Amino acid sequence: ATNRTFTMIKPDAVADGHTGAIIKMIEEAGFRIVAIKKTTLTNERAGQFYAVHSERPFYQGLCDYMSSGAIVPMILEKDNAVADFRKLIGATNPAQAEEGTIRKLYAKSIEANAIHGSDSDENAAIEGSFFFAATEQY
Ligand code: CMP
Repeated sequence: ATNRTFTMIKPDAVADGHTGAIIKMIEEAGFRIVAIKKTTLTNERAGQFYAVHSERPFYQGLCDYMSSGAIVPMILEKDNAVADFRKLIGATNPAQAEEGTIRKLYAKSIEANAIHGSDSDENAAIEGSFFFAATEQY
């Protein structure tokens, strides 16, 4: 069935000028962009977004990194969106990401890994509404 996922291009990939190339890969893989913007996260808002990881040793570093520069959040739509998008981006650790995936091409490290993708339909809805009002989704 057609459903949605949430993604954001992370500060390293935006700063390095990879936004356009990444969006091109996403559209060529058959995803329709439902909502998109360029914005920033404060450290506190990054902490809210990644609250599920608050007990992890990498949490503070992740919040610092995610608030270090502009990001490009998007809501995407496609058949089987969540699983297919995770295939397109590849493993969290770019050293383990498959050839041709967005992270293999653009991620620098397990933390600065170029792009986020929701891990479930439920989280896709929560994460999408963190950035976009219903009136911004087309
Ligand atoms: P993401 O898929 O957005 O979900 C959580 C993020 O935490 C992940 O991408 C990485 O940016 C970061 N992350 C996950 N594991 C580690 C780790 N071991 N060390 C540092 N950062 C991590």
